[in-house]
Amino acid sequence: MSSQAQIRRLTALDITSRKAAEPIVTLTAYTAPMAALADRHCDILLVGDSLGMVVHGLDSTVAVTLEMMILHAQAVMRGSRRALVVVDMPFGSYEESPGQAFRNAARVMREVGCGAVKLEGGQRMAPTIRFLVERGIPVMGHVGLTPQAVNVLGGFKAQGRNRAQWPAIGADAAAVAEAGAFSVVLEAIAEPLAVEITAAVAIPTIGIGASAACDGQVLVLDDMLGLTGRVPKFVKLFGGLGEAADKAMADYAAEVRARRFPGPGHVYAVKD
Ligand code: KIV
Repeated sequence: MSSQAQIRRLTALDITSRKAAEPIVTLTAYTAPMAALADRHCDILLVGDSLGMVVHGLDSTVAVTLEMMILHAQAVMRGSRRALVVVDMPFGSYEESPGQAFRNAARVMREVGCGAVKLEGGQRMAPTIRFLVERGIPVMGHVGLTPQAVNVLGGFKAQGRNRAQWPAIGADAAAVAEAGAFSVVLEAIAEPLAVEITAAVAIPTIGIGASAACDGQVLVLDDMLGLTGRVPKFVKLFGGLGEAADKAMADYAAEVRARRFPGPGHVYAVKD
């Protein structure tokens, strides 16, 4: 058996078993080469619908389609071997009814071969989460700031900064957990609320702009690498790849303009 065949992909159950244990490292991934790099360090690769903004230059995630998600997710599966690949259900593909959600989530699972899907929403989506899980589709929940609701929320605003909002957000996380989600993303919520929810729910919480006390963390890969422009306050830059790429392109352009590229070592000599 080759060493490649021995690597087992993590499953949704493996992730659930990490509640209050070893922190769950998650990054978004949208392409095969980045997935291959991230796979060496991550437990979960999230094919987030943030790809609409990060890769396709959209203003929000609202216009992302199921076809876009499937195409990117297939690339991420091809690039990775160990991490659990979770695919975001895009806006409009699951909210109408549990039946609509099942049809589209089943298509994602079938065409991508991923291990789970993610959908946004708390109490109102709990029946749908239960419907999917009971029919064999592992679901990651997502509460707090839910970017697909940007037009209702009036922008990408942190949630729960006012204590009066805490019971509703806490109830959202509890409903998702009780419906059978294997983990839940807490996005852009007040830090003490994230601590409280993490202590209260039985499934792992994956924080983004939440708290270091969450059971795991997720960041948009391109943001933390410094490849995107303006990033939210909660993003920490772990690399300066934007600057490095800019310098590489400037060096290339200078060599082309000076007719120094391709030089010796990068051209083919005649053999006979
Ligand atoms: O779409 C996405 O990348 C996400 C993460 C930010 C959690 O949902």
